[in-house]
Amino acid sequence: MNLDERLQNVAVVGAAGKMGSGIAVLVAQEMAKLKLMPENKNKIYRLNLIDVTEEALDGLRGYMKTQLIKVAEKSTVLLRTIYKDRKNLIENADIINTFVDDCYALLNFTTDINISKDAHLVFEAIFENEEIKIKVLKNLKDICLPDALFLTNTSSIPISYLDEQAVLGGRIIGYHFYNPPVIQKLVEVIEAKNTTDELKSIATELGKRLRKKLVPAKDISGFIGNGHFSRDGLYALNEVEKLKAEYGYHGALYIMNKVSQEFLVRPMGIFQLIDYVGLDVFQSLLRVMRTHLGLEALNSELINRMMDKKVAGGQNPNGSQKDGFLKYEKGRPIGVYNVDEDKYFMFDEDWKKNIDSKLYPNNEKFAPWRVLLMDPKKQEKLESHFEDLKKMNTWSSELGLNYLKATKKIAENLLVDGVATIADEINATLMNGFYWLYGPINNYV
Ligand SMILES: NC(=O)c1ccc[n+]([C@@H]2O[C@H](COP(=O)([O-])OP(=O)(O)OC[C@H]3O[C@@H](n4cnc5c(N)ncnc54)[C@H](O)[C@@H]3O)[C@@H](O)[C@H]2O)c1
Repeated sequence: MNLDERLQNVAVVGAAGKMGSGIAVLVAQEMAKLKLMPENKNKIYRLNLIDVTEEALDGLRGYMKTQLIKVAEKSTVLLRTIYKDRKNLIENADIINTFVDDCYALLNFTTDINISKDAHLVFEAIFENEEIKIKVLKNLKDICLPDALFLTNTSSIPISYLDEQAVLGGRIIGYHFYNPPVIQKLVEVIEAKNTTDELKSIATELGKRLRKKLVPAKDISGFIGNGHFSRDGLYALNEVEKLKAEYGYHGALYIMNKVSQEFLVRPMGIFQLIDYVGLDVFQSLLRVMRTHLGLEALNSELINRMMDKKVAGGQNPNGSQKDGFLKYEKGRPIGVYNVDEDKYFMFDEDWKKNIDSKLYPNNEKFAPWRVLLMDPKKQEKLESHFEDLKKMNTWSSELGLNYLKATKKIAENLLVDGVATIADEINATLMNGFYWLYGPINNYV
């Protein structure tokens, strides 16, 4: 069965979640485009969107509508070709609304997982819990057609392990979209030991169809993206411990957050990133990796204690950032959480000025990530930025350069461990999945 045939009946399990909802938007468009081809006029297309509660599905309905409108607004030229025979569709708005309706007509929102019995492709995007994922995959195996193929979005669980535990006989592949799937170009593709050739080629073709950048990662817990991110985060936490004696905990965390963002020219500081991803997600990532890799060091007592206090970051339903390591006001950090006191230490201007003067003793000014992102001379500017950092020759520049070296070492170790085969795969993952301007394997240090 080819991809077009498989796209006639698809299920997304965990469809109302952050990742499932984005995958649903991507797949709905492709299915609608197929359905709109004259030769497919009489075929039935069905995208089953499965989650556990009606409330979750209600939220998903709204999300799908707004996202499909956005997508259609960006594709009016293509949509005009698709609808060229529909003379009544004149205005862009007519075309957009018709496409959204055509997508919507394929959707089936349900809490009944049995509806996936006719699915040829199943995307699994339920939360990162090994036991539940295995239970759901086993159930799906019993429910679905014997040739149904499964694409799991797990961030860290080895795919061969899921395959064995759910007895899927190789009909599973890791298809690790990044958040949000509608925007992020990157998908890490992880083949299990027994992934079938058919599924491998379907996964490749699907990536082209969705216009994604596919990066292969080996089936080692954490894969490339989270294999790097988890260790990068632990490195920063470790540095905070070291800096604490001199700058206090609040100062140390503020410093490492700033150094990772401003000295390393990243889109956000490491602690903002962990807050964005969610401390719960980061903690479970470490737990899964620790179990599967047998590495006790993949742990953070601080994060465990913060989770005990239910300080978890993540987003509010309106998309705003929840407090985690940092407290936020209009998206900007205004304080640091102190787990011993169970409260936030708020930055005041004098306190910030004092630490900033130590970070930038000669009032150095670095171009921020968002400026370099758009700069056609980005490469040269990055090179001169890191040269300037070396010339600064202060404790803070050393902190930055050491961080740069550590991220390089983490990436090189991923090569040694066989998680990636070439440096480009790691660099592409960090650049596309985490919006870095440069890969961790570079000549800057
Ligand atoms: N959030 C991210 O940044 C991110 C990025 C890449 C990959 N991932 C991975 O994607 C997966 C989903 O993560 P998420 O962040 O979207 O989680 P989420 O918590 O936002 O969504 C999970 C959804 O699964 C649903 N669900 C739970 N059990 C279910 C069941 N038995 N049947 C049907 N639905 C069920 C939940 O109701 C929820 O809507 C995880 O494996 C995660 O590791 C997450």
